[in-house]
Amino acid sequence: MRVGSVASRPMARPSFRSPKGTRDILPGEAERQRALVNTFADSARKAGFGHVITPMFEELGVFKRLGESTDVVTKEMYDFVAKDNNRYALRPELTASVVRAFVQHRPQIPWKVWYEGPQFRYERPQAGRYRQFSQIGVEALGTDDPSLDADVIALGWNFYSQLGLNEVTLMVNSLGDPTCRPAYLEALTRYFETRRSQLSEQSQHTLLVNPLRVLDSKREQDQSIIDEAPVMVDHLSDETAEHFGGVRRLLDRMEIPYEISPRLVRGLDYYTRTTFEFASHALEGSQNAVGGGGRYDSLASDLGGPDTPGIGFALGVDRILLACDAEGVFDAPSSLVDVFLIDVTGGDEAAMISQALMVSGIACDRAYDARSMRAQFRAADKSGAAFAVIIGEDEVENGQATIRSLRGDDREQTTVATHLLTEELHKRLSTT
Ligand code: HAM
Repeated sequence: MRVGSVASRPMARPSFRSPKGTRDILPGEAERQRALVNTFADSARKAGFGHVITPMFEELGVFKRLGESTDVVTKEMYDFVAKDNNRYALRPELTASVVRAFVQHRPQIPWKVWYEGPQFRYERPQAGRYRQFSQIGVEALGTDDPSLDADVIALGWNFYSQLGLNEVTLMVNSLGDPTCRPAYLEALTRYFETRRSQLSEQSQHTLLVNPLRVLDSKREQDQSIIDEAPVMVDHLSDETAEHFGGVRRLLDRMEIPYEISPRLVRGLDYYTRTTFEFASHALEGSQNAVGGGGRYDSLASDLGGPDTPGIGFALGVDRILLACDAEGVFDAPSSLVDVFLIDVTGGDEAAMISQALMVSGIACDRAYDARSMRAQFRAADKSGAAFAVIIGEDEVENGQATIRSLRGDDREQTTVATHLLTEELHKRLSTT
């Protein structure tokens, strides 16, 4: 179809837009996202994590384990009754799904897996907070060795450095375990109860369902009360304190800088012992968490499996890319293709050459609709390709093609026999 025939039709008003809180990620930015995921996949694989893919929806009960008093469960879940009359939810995160898969398949431990993909939370959208967003992450089940905690944290830390991000900080905390947390919760509840009337209305409600979660309030009114509240790290049992000490000692030895953040409680209820969060100071305060994780030693048994400790993290892809923008690092790949074909003889030659180049592993593109030579050159420049291959009447007659460099000041041209073109391009591309 000629481009002109599309332009001559009356333009229909676009009536549909992507749903609120979701985005279309277009070529360029989508390639950048893919490159980021590939970089992570490579690091995770080198650290011994296998790739796992679980469904994007699960039975609602799987996610109820995130905590009956968390916003994720009470307000943000995309749940629905399907045609089989079962109640499902689009996954708001992947830890519960991965642990469900662990319980279902009972793989050998330690089971170390990495994942990527979209998550869904019905949140109030704003910059860096979406209703569909992407995470990359790892989970490791089967041991509570503190050196696994340090390894997992180090994997996250190293990933940000690898991207070139300098303004990420790490906060760690221990949330205790079932032996010491109940006594702490009692002390915390007692403390908040004596100040109940000074707390915001929302926090007064949270106090009734989960006093720990009050520490997570970002409301101005609650801050001075939260600042004075008792903290878990002062109430750890000897065993839990030793575990936390082990994690910190290893982080020190790995020279990973961190801050102990005793009020870090995270937004999900399954955490025990080590918890951590990565924040980017290049981003707006309220959306500056670029990743987080921790131990969830009871989640496998809560989901009906054997008592199996676990730890992991998830990093927010969308926010990491915003942090990369803010720090001016990890640019979008500058081009999708290596070669752009310019054919002024109608297009058949370019079709044949493009087929041969692609089979040989050279990424290439070309213009359609028998555009003018000028228009094709413009498209070639825009494509970001390193080389143009020009096919004119003379070239076709002599069984040749002309290679022209598209980068740098020196746009040198060479004509080569068509049967040597692929080899010549491979040679040149290996030196660019
Ligand atoms: P999370 O803290 O809820 O943890 O999410 C991890 C990261 O996902 C956040 O730090 C943030 O970068 C990103 N994120 C969360 N919500 C949004 C949103 N609405 N828009 C954009 N980005 C968002 C978890 O999901 C746990 N599953 C982490 C984990 C793994 N814990 C143990 N293993």
